[in-house]
This record gives sequence, structure tokens and C-alpha cells, in this order.
Amino acid sequence: MTARIATTPVRAGSRIVSTGSYRPARVIDNAEVCTWIESSDEWIRERSGIVERRWAAPDESVTDMGLAAAEKALAASGLSATDLSMVLVATVSHPYQTPSAAAEIADRIGAPQAAALDVAAACAGFCYALGLADNLIRSGQSEHILVIGVEKLSDFVRQDDRGSSFIFADGAGAVVVSPSDHAGIGPTVWGADGAQKDAITMTQSWTEFRDDPSHGFPALVMQGQQVFRWAVGEMAKVSQEALAAAGVTVDDLAAFVPHQANNRITDAIVRQLALPDHVVVARDIITTGNTSAASVPLALDRMLESGEVGHGGLALLVGFGAGLAYAAQVVEIP
Ligand SMILES: CC(C)(COP(=O)(O)OP(=O)(O)OC[C@H]1O[C@@H](n2cnc3c(N)ncnc32)[C@H](O)[C@@H]1OP(=O)(O)O)[C@@H](O)C(=O)NCCC(=O)NCCS
Repeated sequence: MTARIATTPVRAGSRIVSTGSYRPARVIDNAEVCTWIESSDEWIRERSGIVERRWAAPDESVTDMGLAAAEKALAASGLSATDLSMVLVATVSHPYQTPSAAAEIADRIGAPQAAALDVAAACAGFCYALGLADNLIRSGQSEHILVIGVEKLSDFVRQDDRGSSFIFADGAGAVVVSPSDHAGIGPTVWGADGAQKDAITMTQSWTEFRDDPSHGFPALVMQGQQVFRWAVGEMAKVSQEALAAAGVTVDDLAAFVPHQANNRITDAIVRQLALPDHVVVARDIITTGNTSAASVPLALDRMLESGEVGHGGLALLVGFGAGLAYAAQVVEIP
């Protein structure tokens, strides 16, 4: 008789148990941005909400920043690195195609036993990785998972690109996700509209650059209006689906933590969701800029650090960006 394959028992839920963040030291204000592009502090504030952003030092890598955020999240969890069964890193700016940033961070943090992989879903990456972590833990496949969102976008955005250089920035956020006797992370609503893949893309591929370097290093470019229309048109619906999937309403929320793309996009989603006044809305973009996969964990960590939200309430997270990929879920605030 063919042997039956053994499996692991399914769990009731998972939850975020701790957060950590890393913000690089160098502050770039709008006046400095205006030395690279023709713009103004007023225009940048009005169109994006951004007052200043952080940039990593030239010798500071994606893995350095990811590790720094991860060490804080791990310390706050009370676990040790050897307890981790997986390291997931959401990033699109790790400058090595392989090996992954996750494998390097797992080694540097002292978790040689952990499975490790990167998640390339751009600004939706952290919410994608969180959804994967929740499913892996609930299925019994994994125990404790370190989820990191980290970007060094200053390496991939051209300073003279008027449509992008004032928006994108660097940083890292991390959470530890552990088994729970109840659902601390709701079902993830996710997807991607690949037909709009050119809305945020690279100027060319690495092989095109190899064959003809005259157009310069591949850089991130964005069709700002197309991205704006898509996010404002679709992300409230995706958020509503995540609320419904979790069986809660906006009245049950303590916080809303959207990807920090642009304050005008956040305003539009808040209006469409008709969020009650008691729901605290993340506005970390004002001093952090758009850090793609790092923006949601950075904003969540800041909310907790500043005491804007308490422990145990519910937060709605939604990430969206290149792909055009999106992911949303309701989580219990650690
Ligand atoms: C990027 C964004 C702020 C640009 O604003 P916009 O109103 O769409 O800008 P446009 O490109 O249509 O240009 C409008 C005007 O502003 C000017 N402009 C464009 N970039 C400018 C800049 N950096 N500084 C000053 N003026 C600028 C243009 O020249 C144009 O002027 P004109 O009307 O005299 O021709 C906006 O499209 C946006 O917020 N998009 C979403 C981006 C985003 O969130 N991306 C993250 C996704 S993860």
C-alpha cells in the first residue's frame, strides 16, 4: 500500500507580536530636492504631503537596514533568532538578483535554521508577505516568522526625474508573526493588474543595459496620474473586501495604515471608506516619504511608538503599487 504523507495540524490563527523600524540618519528636505529638479516646497507638500524624507548612506545596504529593523522587532518579541522558522523580506531594491536579502539577513541575525525568501510585490510587498506568513503559520508549516519590508529607493530613482525623485525614499520596518489561539490577522485580499505593468516600471532591463549602456543604469519610473487614478479608484474597494473578509466594519477599527504613497491618495481612500473620527490614520509619509515595501511597517511602528494607538485594537492595512499589485488585511495591533 502507498504510504500516506504526514502533515502538520492546522492552527486557529496567527498574530503580529512585535514591530521594529530603522530610519536612516540623512534627512532630505524639499529645499534639497529642489536643487535637483525644478519644483517648490509648496508644490511637493500640496501634491504629496511630503515635507522631508530619509536617505540611506552610500555604504548602507538594504540588508543593513532590514537587519537593524529586524533586530528591534525580534528583541521586542522576547524570542531569539533560533526560534524563527522563516524570514520573509519584501523589497524591490536589493541590488542582487540572487542570493536573496532574506537569506543574508537570516544568517546575520543568527537564524541559520530559517527558510528565507524575498517577496517582490513592490509597495504591496509587506502586506503580501504578511498574508503569506499568516497562511504558513495557520497551515502548521511554520512557527515564528520574521517579516521585513525594506527599500533603498535612492539607488534606483534618478535625481532629475521630476515625477518620482521627490516621492521615493529609504527605510525598513519589521514585525514578528507568531501562532495565536485566535485570528490576529484576517484573510488577505490580494491581486495584481499586470495589464498596467508599465505604470511603475524600470527604464530598461539589465540585459538591455548590458547590451547598450548608453541610456544609463535601469531606474524606477512612474506614470503618476495613472497610478493615482488606479489607487483612488480601486483601493477603497479592496479595503472594504478585507474588512468584510475579517467580519468587521470601519466602526471596529482603531487605525488605518495604508501604504504611504501620497497623502492625497490616503485622503481619497479615507473619504470613500467613511472612516469614523476615532480611527487614527497613518501619515508617516510627511517625514518619511514613500518607502514602498517598508512604508506600512514603518507607519505602524511609529503609531505604536508615539502612543497614537493602543495595543490590541484593530488596524486595516493596505499596500499597493507596481504590478499593479495590491494586498489588504485587518490585523490586531500588537
Ligand atoms: C506624481 C504626482 C504628484 C504628480 O502630480 P500631477 O498633478 O499628476 O502632475 P502632472 O505630471 O500631471 O503635472 C501637472 C503639472 O505639474 C508640473 N509638475 C510635475 N512634476 C512637478 C514637480 N516635481 N514639481 C513642480 N511641478 C511639477 C507639471 O509640469 C505640470 O505643469 P503644467 O500643468 O504647467 O503642464 C501625482 O501624479 C501623484 O500623486 N501620483 C501618484 C504617485 C504615487 O503615489 N506613487 C506611488 C505609488 S506606490
